[in-house]
Formats: sequence, C-alpha cells, structure tokens
Amino acid sequence: MVTPRALGPDDAPALARIYSGASIQHTTGKPLTLGQAHEKIRSALARAAESPRAQWSWVILNEDDLIGLIALRRRTPSMGTISYILREDTWGNGYATQAARQVVSVAFTTAGLNRLEAMHHPDNPASGRVLAKAGFTRVGTADRHTDDGTVPYELYALESADT
Ligand SMILES: CC(C)(COP(=O)(O)OP(=O)(O)OC[C@H]1O[C@@H](n2cnc3c(N)ncnc32)[C@H](O)[C@@H]1OP(=O)(O)O)[C@@H](O)C(=O)NCCC(=O)NCCS
Repeated sequence: MVTPRALGPDDAPALARIYSGASIQHTTGKPLTLGQAHEKIRSALARAAESPRAQWSWVILNEDDLIGLIALRRRTPSMGTISYILREDTWGNGYATQAARQVVSVAFTTAGLNRLEAMHHPDNPASGRVLAKAGFTRVGTADRHTDDGTVPYELYALESADT
C-alpha cells in the first residue's frame, strides 16, 4: 500500500529522479534538474499556503521509498484536476491507482470538490487505465497545444457520489 505525504523541502533529489527517462516521455519531455526540483517544491509550498487553498501536492511513498508525485488543483470552486507521475522502475504495481484513489477521497472531502477531471496524452494508455480504475469515465478529448502541434488529449471525469 502506498501512502501520500505532503511534499517537503527535502524532496528535491527524489523528485529529480522521478522526472527523468520514460516518466517524462508524455509529460514535460525534459528531465528536471535539481535546481528545478527545488523551484518546483518552493512554488508548490507557496501554493499550499494560499487561502482558499487551490493546490495540494503529495509525494507517493512506498514504505520509505519516495516513488512519485501526485497533485490536486482546484480549477473552480467545485471542480478540480488531478495529475501524477511515478518513477519508471516502480510502474505496473498498482501504485498510481492506489494513490489516485486516496487523492479522489481527499478531493471530495477535505477539498470540498464535487467534480474531478484529468487528461492524458493519447499515446499514454496506462494513465487512462489508472483513471478508469480510480472510478473516472472517459468523457471526450481536449486539444492541447504542444511542441508537436495540437494533440487531442483523452479527457476523463468523476463526479462525487453526493452530487
Ligand atoms: C501512468 C503511470 C502514472 C502509471 O503508474 P503505475 O503505478 O504503473 O499504474 P498502475 O500500476 O496503478 O496501473 C497501470 C495500468 O495501466 C496498464 N498499462 C500499462 N501499460 C499499458 C499500455 N501500454 N497500454 C494499456 N494499458 C497499459 C497496466 O496493465 C495497468 O492496468 P491493469 O491494472 O488493468 O492491468 C506511470 O506510468 C507514469 O508515471 N507515467 C509517466 C507520467 C505520466 O504519464 N503521468 C500521467 C500524465 S496524464
């Protein structure tokens, strides 16, 4: 079972390891330097201190091993998005699905959201499986403008059972 833990200032080296190799193929495309990892953490911590809160960032722990990052962002008062990335050598163990389920639960309780959305690159079906296993439904596509032109990302949504 993996555990989310609030991102902290000492997580930069582990974060730089996560954002490399195949893990960034369908995301940023560029490995994160240690300096950029520190900057990413600084910015996440600043956003975590905002009120009302619009962003939550957790590292994903498998026992003591920091294997990934998962984030929740409030986009409107009631709708948020989730995103996640796991270190390549930990894929295929159900870890992203476990982490996504836990963040969905926080989104619909602590964060008070009633709808979540997420999207993934069309060449990244594993991410779609994670979303489906966490309860999301594919609702269509959303065009994203990337260096390779316009890409139709797969769009998923999940409504709170209370809505
Ligand atoms: C996507 C990602 C988070 C998945 O993490 P993970 O811990 O391996 O995910 P899980 O083990 O919980 O589930 C992966 C599912 O995808 C499936 N899968 C893996 N490769 C696949 C492929 N090429 N085609 C279809 N399904 C695939 C697995 O079989 C599994 O589904 P199953 O349980 O039904 O068999 C991880 O690969 C990652 O970090 N990728 C890089 C970053 C990224 O793409 N983030 C998402 C951006 S939207």
